[in-house]
Amino acid sequence: MKTLTITRPDDWHLHVRNGAILKTVMPHTARQFARAVIMPNLKPPVTTVAQALAYRDEILQAIPAGMDFTPLMTLYLTGSTTAVEVKKAAESRHVHAFKLYPAGATTNSDSGVADIHAVYPLLAVMESHDMPLLVHGEVADDACDIFDRERVFIESQLSAIHENFPGLRIVVEHLTTAEAVQFVQSASAKVAATITPQHLLFNRNALLAGGLRPHHYCLPILKREHHRLALVAAATGGNPKFFLGTDSAPHQTSLKENACGCAGCYSAHAALELYAEAFERAGALDRLEGFASFHGADFYRLPRSTGTVTLVKSAWQVPLVYGDDGVAITPLKAGEALAWKML
Ligand code: NCD
Ligand code: ZN
Repeated sequence: MKTLTITRPDDWHLHVRNGAILKTVMPHTARQFARAVIMPNLKPPVTTVAQALAYRDEILQAIPAGMDFTPLMTLYLTGSTTAVEVKKAAESRHVHAFKLYPAGATTNSDSGVADIHAVYPLLAVMESHDMPLLVHGEVADDACDIFDRERVFIESQLSAIHENFPGLRIVVEHLTTAEAVQFVQSASAKVAATITPQHLLFNRNALLAGGLRPHHYCLPILKREHHRLALVAAATGGNPKFFLGTDSAPHQTSLKENACGCAGCYSAHAALELYAEAFERAGALDRLEGFASFHGADFYRLPRSTGTVTLVKSAWQVPLVYGDDGVAITPLKAGEALAWKML
């Protein structure tokens, strides 16, 4: 049987929520990954080091005994974030970055930043403390077509942030367009990016294949095929600026299959299998380890993880739903067969 063994990977963009959902999703991630960057868009958002440490404890309690997993915490940047908090975060061993959500751009982003210039002084503090800024790169503008929002954000805001703060490490999260790939490639070594499994596997047709497909709805939204091809080329090209970030974003099935379904794909149940499928299709399975296990750790200046995981080419069927006790989460590729399976 065909097998693939790689250094235990890390997930550099993950949502795990809190409360009941956390207990359902955490074992999936802890099984596959050594570490994950935990996104702070809870209700209310995680804005202080004290909140991040409390959230970290809650996450650690949801990890099954015997599993070795380290959550890497982030803080949600708001108009009220202070320079003192940025310094505290930089001094904390457990907080690794700030997350910038343009207000209104995605799930739980109401507390996000409405005017990017208002937080420029804080970006200067992050730059001076070498604190990375993780960016949801979309304008939240009704007048801007939803398929153009990433490109317009890069042109109108991100380029200026990079120019004004050349020492600031930036991760452009969940790339979806050829223009974003181009921006990251041509920017300095301070700029890197994560790429999700859904954006490598699907183009925007998957949203409307035979009907409305709410489980393929995430933000930034799936784009045209030529964008998907640019993302596959970036992920499999060996460039250390690109690394794994699932953006696995659990929502109750009832909130996805809804007249106003919420944004986010759940992929933690089979993250590596999904990436393996995309890399194999591109004839680049040998590049999966760099993307999944090395590039992100190097960018975040953390030691590469130790240990290995093994995938086998052995088909299995994804369950229709995960969860119990009132939790029901429909995973990506629910009910479908996956070619790879993690042992
Ligand atoms: C994420 C979520 O549900 O928290 N949703 C999504 O569509 N990706 C938020 C985000 O990363 O934009
Ligand atoms: Zn996300």
